[in-house]
Order: sequence, then structure tokens, then C-alpha cells
Amino acid sequence: MSKNMILPDVVCKIEKSGNRYNAWSTDGVKYTSEVTHGCRKRAFLGDYLIGRFTSTNGNKGTSWRRVTDTVMAAMGDTLNTNTNDNVSAVEVPEEHEEVLNFIHSSYNLKPRGLMMNELKWKYLVRSAVRGKNIMMTGAAGCGKTMAAKALVNALDRPDYYFNLGATQDPRGTLIGNTHFEDGKGTYFSKSHFVEAISTPNAVILLDELSRAHPDAWNILMTVLDYGQRYLRLDEQNDQATVTVAEGVTFIATANIGNEYTSTRQLDKALMDRFTIVEMDLLNESEENELLTYMFPNVDNTVLGNVAKIASITRVEGSSDTARIPFGISTRTTVELCGLLYDGFSLVEASEVCIYPQYDNAGGVDSERTFVKQIVQKFCDDGSGEDLFNEEEINEATEDV
Ligand SMILES: Nc1ncnc2c1ncn2[C@@H]1O[C@H](COP(=O)(O)OP(=O)(O)O)[C@@H](O)[C@H]1O
Ligand SMILES: [Mg+2]
Repeated sequence: MSKNMILPDVVCKIEKSGNRYNAWSTDGVKYTSEVTHGCRKRAFLGDYLIGRFTSTNGNKGTSWRRVTDTVMAAMGDTLNTNTNDNVSAVEVPEEHEEVLNFIHSSYNLKPRGLMMNELKWKYLVRSAVRGKNIMMTGAAGCGKTMAAKALVNALDRPDYYFNLGATQDPRGTLIGNTHFEDGKGTYFSKSHFVEAISTPNAVILLDELSRAHPDAWNILMTVLDYGQRYLRLDEQNDQATVTVAEGVTFIATANIGNEYTSTRQLDKALMDRFTIVEMDLLNESEENELLTYMFPNVDNTVLGNVAKIASITRVEGSSDTARIPFGISTRTTVELCGLLYDGFSLVEASEVCIYPQYDNAGGVDSERTFVKQIVQKFCDDGSGEDLFNEEEINEATEDV
């Protein structure tokens, strides 16, 4: 054996869990987030181990690569590399004490980049652990999808993702398709969704459920009903059903009570099948904390101003006498700060990120003018003409 052989400090085996390829070290630590998806997938398909190697070119980085037999031999083969079971590693706490413990210590599983208060996060985790169907509601761009994905990551369970807002063919997506082939005749191929609901302990994300086609809602009715929990494959034939496996959790997201007209009114009967977890709009200090965390290189005062602008518009957007239909979302402030980071001024970034979202009809009285006025209050480039009087701006800003 060569004396200079470089050995990895960690060796992982890949296990498939739902859609995900998880990297587990031989002593049971999960390294999935350190390894690229492609690397994990190749290792799983190729049935080989991967290791973390420290770069030799002096730049201190690490990289994950295939661990060859020679390397394993050099490591003394002390690692247990039993690869004969490809069963998913599913960890769902069972004893009550263990469940309590898991829920109440789960706040550290929340990624730092997700702003969500501790109670809401714990409620989310608790609902998932207790097998509830969860519906994340809230305005567009407030972190619903992000929180749902973070939850899925925190629960080490097989996970599946379906964006129902993007599908034009609910039947094909949720049930499957009938095909015809010469020689084979007509045959039915089951959807990925059928696989998902048949997987014990799966966590199934139904993103943008509020934008889904009503056919999708109808199909999901029996699936989500705690008393039924089955999917009917064929409307004509009551016999052809797939039962939802033990421990499956559904997490849906819905834009509720906001400006999007394409969001259909969710059926009451469907809503009743969910535990609602409402994502709040961030207040000024939360917004500021998030932006400062995400953009440490952007000027603090400017970030503070962005947080102020956002929160003023949010207060305005939810007031009874609102002059704008919605406040600036966190998705928008994050995009905007990305532009600031890339050297755009606040005036420029607002011009492209914020203003197009607001109606320009009505000139000086338009929604857009109103928002511009608020933004300009925080841009000291001297170009801001007063379109509103001082009193009106103060009125809009005083609740903050
Ligand atoms: N509460 C939040 N915490 C951290 N980032 C957020 C939050 N809300 C929104 N964002 C940012 O906005 C983006 C869009 O959020 P997303 O979860 O897709 O919104 P939604 O699904 O509610 O429309 C995220 O990628 C993130 O950068
Ligand atoms: Mg979303």
C-alpha cells in the first residue's frame, strides 16, 4: 500500500428513502446535505460507498467520491459495510415520551434560513408526527413551500413532492394513464402518486393545492379522509382502489385570502380534512433578521430600510382601508436584496422587483404610486418628488 494514500474521514453508504438518496455514515450519522444529489444517486445505483476526502491542493475543501476497495482495505476494513438491505431507514418515534421529546426538541431541526416562530414550527412537527393532514396557508411568498420542505427534511421519512398548481392533468398525475401498445393491448400505468401513498410512513407534499384543478380535489377527497384513506382508480368500478399505507402524512400548501385570482376557492369539505397551520407575515424585526442573515455583505442600513418598506406595505395591505391589495412579500424582499448584493441601488431594484406587482391605473392615485411613495421615503438619492403629502405618509407608517 502506498504510504501517501489519502483516506476519507467519513465513509457513507447510500440508502433510498422515497425520492431521496440519503447518505449514512457507518456510525449512523446522516450526511445527505453535504453530498450532491447526483453523487448520492450514482453511488446508490452503482452500489458503492462514498467517502469525504480533504483536498490536497491546499485549499482546505472537502469532496465526496467513490471509495475504492483499495482505500477500504487501507482503512483496515473496520467499517461495517453490510449492503444487503436496501430498506428505507424510517424513523418515527413511537413511545409517548419519545414523541414528546422529539416535538419539543425539534426547533433545532428548523433551518436557520427559515423564519418561523417556535410554536408554529413545533405545531407543524407535532401534526406530522401525529399523522395529521397539514395545510400550510398564508399569502404568496411567505414561506409555505419552504416550511413544508423543511419539515419533510426534518422528519427522516420517505418523501414525495407533487406540484398540483402546475399540473394540467390531475387524473394522470394522481391516478395514472391508460396506454395502448401493439401486441400488448390496453394497459394501465399507475402514477407516481400511487407509489407514494402505498409507501408506509411517506410524507407527501401537495404543493399549491389551492391552484389545483377541481378534479384533483375530488380525487383527493377519499384519500385525505381519515375514515376512508383510499384512492379510487376507476370511477366506474368501486372495487379498484389503492389503500393509503400506514403512517402516511400529507402536507398541502394553499394561498388563502390573497390577491391571486387563479387560486380557486378551496372547497369547504376538502379544507375540513386538514389541520391548518397558518404562516404569518414577518414583522419588521423578523424580516430584518432574515435579510441580515442572508445578505451579510449588503449594507445594514439599506437592509433595515427594505424591512421597513416591506412591513409598512404589509400593515397597509391588511388594514381595513387598505390602498394596496397586499404587502411586499418576503420572496420579493429576498429577490430585491439579491439585486442590492449585485450592485443595484434600492431605487433600481424596487423599479424591477416591486413596482410591476402593483396596478398602475389611476396615475397619481394608483396602487403603484402609493408604493413608490413609501419606497422613496427610504431612498436618499434626492430624486423623490413628493406625490403625497407628509401627513399621508405618516399615516401609512405610524402603525409600524
Ligand atoms: N418565512 C420565511 N423565512 C425565510 N425565507 C422566506 C420566508 N418566506 C419567504 N421566504 C423566501 O421567499 C422564497 C419563497 O418562499 P416560498 O416558500 O416559495 O413561498 P410560498 O410557498 O409561501 O409562496 C423562499 O425561497 C425564501 O427565499
Ligand atoms: Mg409555494
